[in-house]
Amino acid sequence: MPNLDVVILAAGKGTRMHSETPKVLHTLAGRPLLAHVIDTARELQPARIVVVYGHGGEQVRERCSTPGVEFVRQAPQLGTGHAVQQALPLLKSDRTLILYGDVPLVSVSSLRRLTARQARLRLLTVELDHPAGYGRVVRGRDRSVRRIVEEKDASAREKAIREINTGMLCASTADLRRWLDATDNRNAQREYYLTDIVGLAAAEKIPIATAAPDAAWEVLGVNSKDQLARIERIYQWEYAQALMRSGVSLADPARIDIRGKLVCGRDVAIDVNCVFEGRVVLGDRVRIGANCVIRESEIGAGSEVLPFSHIEQATSGTDNRIGPYSRLRPGARLADRVHAGNFVEIKASTVAEGSKINHLSYVGDASVGRNVNIGAGTIICNYDGVNKHRTVIGDDAFIGSDSQLVAPVTIGRGTTIGAGSTITKDTPPGELTVSRAKQVTITGWKRPTKKQG
Ligand code: UD1
Ligand code: CA
Repeated sequence: MPNLDVVILAAGKGTRMHSETPKVLHTLAGRPLLAHVIDTARELQPARIVVVYGHGGEQVRERCSTPGVEFVRQAPQLGTGHAVQQALPLLKSDRTLILYGDVPLVSVSSLRRLTARQARLRLLTVELDHPAGYGRVVRGRDRSVRRIVEEKDASAREKAIREINTGMLCASTADLRRWLDATDNRNAQREYYLTDIVGLAAAEKIPIATAAPDAAWEVLGVNSKDQLARIERIYQWEYAQALMRSGVSLADPARIDIRGKLVCGRDVAIDVNCVFEGRVVLGDRVRIGANCVIRESEIGAGSEVLPFSHIEQATSGTDNRIGPYSRLRPGARLADRVHAGNFVEIKASTVAEGSKINHLSYVGDASVGRNVNIGAGTIICNYDGVNKHRTVIGDDAFIGSDSQLVAPVTIGRGTTIGAGSTITKDTPPGELTVSRAKQVTITGWKRPTKKQG
């Protein structure tokens, strides 16, 4: 929206969070509250976005600075009107939209409605059954908005008003400058209230419009840990609803957490208590078992991830079976029809088509060929205490259970390794290699007996 500037107020201390972390850096769906508001503001394509910061200033700048967002410092914090004043020198568009760094759920569509018409002052308001704590919208007999009164300054009659000020508003920038110049701090909190501009506009007989958000929960703010948790649940519930609308089956929409973006193909099914972080892509017909944590990974079509698996920065092809209790770490690249079973850890390794690593193994810094079978308890010893080394396993190799492959080492194509071997040298293709001592039987051997007295 050209000719629109956005100011995001984020200087408040957040005393009730009882935390060293500035309030706007507490996270919703894994990202700072303020980052959500910046994203939403950006979707309006304004001419500029200005964040007013104060408490924990440098941290806020570091965590949330992104191209096109300007930061101004408010110190000391003398109220919401004073906060907007700090941004005024940077504002150049005809209109200004005010948002709050601790009100992260507001939707783009509600903000479009707030900014749609060219009114000189337009407020986002909502009727609440329990309006306590909020500023109330005072209207005249003709229903026109007269002013906003803060809870702490309100009379008993005003406290009974259920229409509240969400704080978000859109105003003509020139008017905003004039009105803010005229505000003072003669009120219960000795603060410069942004809300006082409403009374000033009414006194100038400027029509004050109001708009409502799509849903009342969009305007919920975060002041305490319980409100943060409540907002998180709303966010997750709404994300789950959107997934189901697009065809994803969720065992329970109240038991999924998405901290990033989850992209799903057709007929994806997700069991309870799964956490998805960053960008995760699930192909068609993928099934995710209960209690999986999947971060920045791709799982190909037709695959099944069984319960309690942990997958991070990994890619997995089609028709694979992972888990239960598998751990794919960064750089695990599985081709198609691969099995990685229980208590199998794979890191920085490629596993080619049709290979199986079914039980209790560690595969690190390795290239595993096609149709390889890695027996239970196989460990790739990739680390000599100082450096990491690579292991190459040829196609059709069979690694007997409880073997150790000491890197750097190459297992030939079609090699069979006898169970319990420690392999330190390259093995020839197509042969059996065993490194353990031969089994012998000592006939007539007797167990020792306890000596008398
Ligand atoms: C404010 C509104 C109130 C509204 C409520 C909605 C005023 C005077 N009151 O009250 O009508 O119902 O929000 O939640 O505006 N901030 C700064 N600098 C400051 C003070 C605040 O940046 O000096 C920021 C805070 O970080 C916060 C926002 O402004 O994001 C609101 O401040 P807060 O003190 O929470 O205002 P409320 O008393 O809740
Ligand atoms: Ca507040």
